[in-house]
Amino acid sequence: MNTQSQKVLIFDTTLRDGEQSPGAAMTLEEKIQIAEFLDEMGVDIIEAGFPISSAGDFAAVKEIARVVKNSTVCGLSRAGFKDIDAAGEALKGARRPRIHTFISTSPVHMKHKLQMGENAVLEAVGASVTRARNFTDDVQWSAEDATRTEKDFLCRTVETAIHSGATVINVPDTVGYSTPQEYFDIITMLRERVPNADKVIFSTHCHNDLGLAVANSLAGVLAGARQVECTINGIGERAGNAALEEIVMALRVRKDIMPYETRIKTQMLARASKMVSNVTGFPVQYNKAIVGKNAFSHESGIHQDGMLKNVETYEIMRPEDVGVNATSLVLGKLSGRHAFRDKLEAMGYHLDDTAFAEAFKRFKDLADKKKHVFDEDIVALVDDEIVRGHDAIVVKNLRVETGTNLLPGAELTLTVNGEDLRVKTTGDGPVDAIFKAIREIYPHAATLQLFQINAVTEGTDAQATVSVRLEENGRTVTGKGSDTDTMVAAAYAYVNALNKLLVKREKQAPEALTIAR
Ligand code: KIV
Ligand code: ZN
Repeated sequence: MNTQSQKVLIFDTTLRDGEQSPGAAMTLEEKIQIAEFLDEMGVDIIEAGFPISSAGDFAAVKEIARVVKNSTVCGLSRAGFKDIDAAGEALKGARRPRIHTFISTSPVHMKHKLQMGENAVLEAVGASVTRARNFTDDVQWSAEDATRTEKDFLCRTVETAIHSGATVINVPDTVGYSTPQEYFDIITMLRERVPNADKVIFSTHCHNDLGLAVANSLAGVLAGARQVECTINGIGERAGNAALEEIVMALRVRKDIMPYETRIKTQMLARASKMVSNVTGFPVQYNKAIVGKNAFSHESGIHQDGMLKNVETYEIMRPEDVGVNATSLVLGKLSGRHAFRDKLEAMGYHLDDTAFAEAFKRFKDLADKKKHVFDEDIVALVDDEIVRGHDAIVVKNLRVETGTNLLPGAELTLTVNGEDLRVKTTGDGPVDAIFKAIREIYPHAATLQLFQINAVTEGTDAQATVSVRLEENGRTVTGKGSDTDTMVAAAYAYVNALNKLLVKREKQAPEALTIAR
């Protein structure tokens, strides 16, 4: 593609750089669910993982390569041949495979991390790109820490990568150090000085340590970059990456000064954000641009008055453009299967018959407990069903006692491998009692890292969504649970996390299956 093209490719790295954020580990099923959603949303390239880094990453890239229909699927590798071969192998089943190989080019990285001089790095660039081209014609090369790299040397590395067959040149601001003008100048310099620069696509990859990731990425686009690397909700190493939803909407809303197109179906952005937040347990900041809870609410009287007169007074984009609908009453107690199925389809959920039957049953239970059922309730309920659908340990029954001058207690029945096990415990509080009960029934060594409650809608009858993060031997998982009863949601969330740990143990280290008793 010519860099003068008006198309900007969206390269999503939620499943690779995003997953590198501490605590954001995802299961294979969750990664597939997200990859399929990104594919449907119109993401051009999905970076599915770093195949050499673990058996889990290898399996995820392989499976995502198999299921993704339209997007290019990309696997990351360092410059070593073992890395590249693993990426090539994992991507074998992809309709459009891309290998992304990188090496550091800045003086500080070369000296302290690689302990390599300039010539050795140049040699590695050439060799790695050549090796990757044996697997696919679509090879992306990145100069890690490009923005702190000496300019002449950066040009020489990029020239070598292009000469060796790279088709995309990525320019990472790895430590989030750059400013928009500086980043603009680097992309401009590379395009002007490097021979054959017009034969490749330049790509941005900006970290957000100074809160400039989106601004820097857009400066890169203005300088001629035609691929932007980003993540849903901006998750990623440290302060994260450029947020996909912000990049896409900035390009859409400010077409007057950035006349570029992306293929993203923007109406799916809010759901993508919720899905990633649900899976990782990372809440979305209320005032987060585009997808935050408050992004489209107007509190002040002056603003409300203006909005009533003409929405353009304070609104630069419509909430529905990003998939945020005014809270809507959807279904009630008397709604039947057809209405529920139609609603799910309209919201983009395609459940198989078993999942649908379970979701419908839960919807009916919810409609019995809750007077008004909103879109957000349906999302919580169905996402919860998808998340917990395959759990081997299930909460069968829970009774909690709590109050002033009372020792909080829980009576819990779990079904474990088909057997019902019941205990009664007390604790410092009701949640403590429930978690103790789970540990008594199913002893384990994992420690609790996060316990978080969010209300799905307004009102005292709102469903609660609880996130629980557990850690065991350096592996973290996040479990979710939703219910109108916060204590029940807490039990669901803890048990869901436990199930995920079991799945991880089975896949990564069968010997670790022994339960700590
Ligand atoms: O931030 C970075 O430099 C990276 C590279 C691996 C592309 O994530
Ligand atoms: Zn990065």
